[in-house]
Amino acid sequence: MNAVPPGPAARFPFRHLLGIEGLHPPQIEALLDLAESYALLNRSGKTQRDLLRGRTLINLFFEDSTRTRMSFELAGKRLGADVLSMAVATSSVNKGETLLDTAATLNAMNCDLLVVRHAASGAPALLAQKVDAAVINAGDGTHEHPTQALLDALTIRRHKGRLAGLTVAICGDIAHSRVARSNIHLLIAMGSRVHLVGPPTLMPAAVDRLGAHVFHDMAQGLAGADIVMMLRLQRERTARGLVPSAREYFRFWGLDAARLALARPDALVMHPGPMNRGVEIDSQVADDPARSLIREQVEMGVAVRMAVLDVLARAPRGRRAKPAA
Ligand code: NCD
Repeated sequence: MNAVPPGPAARFPFRHLLGIEGLHPPQIEALLDLAESYALLNRSGKTQRDLLRGRTLINLFFEDSTRTRMSFELAGKRLGADVLSMAVATSSVNKGETLLDTAATLNAMNCDLLVVRHAASGAPALLAQKVDAAVINAGDGTHEHPTQALLDALTIRRHKGRLAGLTVAICGDIAHSRVARSNIHLLIAMGSRVHLVGPPTLMPAAVDRLGAHVFHDMAQGLAGADIVMMLRLQRERTARGLVPSAREYFRFWGLDAARLALARPDALVMHPGPMNRGVEIDSQVADDPARSLIREQVEMGVAVRMAVLDVLARAPRGRRAKPAA
């Protein structure tokens, strides 16, 4: 029996989820509405194990992950799929196998859904051209992380009742953050006002073309914010010299209770994780149940990934079906 209506699949007519850029508001809304119904289902303790029965989901993570990988696994299992996670560190990738040869191998196993995280921007899009499976981008380089933006949007919508008209301040290492990029696309498409707050060295090139408002001062950037979204300093992607020291970074760009007071009095705090406590965020705000949505973001991650697996599993199969989003 279907606990959720099939309608949203018709409103999201793509074979893959490679990014948020280019999605239209009704398509984003369809995913959020379906995810909301999965959030309620998850809270009720019920499952829907028949939806993806007989389907295979493979997690292919070439970069570290805790939340994203585990929640895709859980989402697949809650919908009844056979879920495999390839441990890249112990796979033949270490013997020099290329990304495309790995993809061809997985393709030969008739996998239905392929969840890919890779350090190279564009790697999931390349795979999507080579495999029959539906490909989901679980974070590619500094490009996009679409399911993170969807789970952030769902979390915001649940607390503020809407996305349109809200001011969301995204703070810190914008330049290296695929989370920021996907959030900017989604929030602007849905009518939010986006403030990007951080030092000039951590702003992406051509930032003025993204449609957001750029601030190089926390007090100005946080003024009027309904949501304060903090980002991890992506040291693995950061050239030396872009920021002075962790201590100094916190002094100028970190979020503590005093800084949060510069936003709206009812402003809520988000962070995609993993957090570097004391670098971009102080434990007092990260762990404050009245202000922090960080745990709920993780919970919504499972619901959003169930919704994405659901719509893509219902989409027509075969390489010549609809073009990728
Ligand atoms: C993010 C990522 O990997 O892009 N983490 C996540 O998926 N929640 C953010 C980060 O690594 O800082």
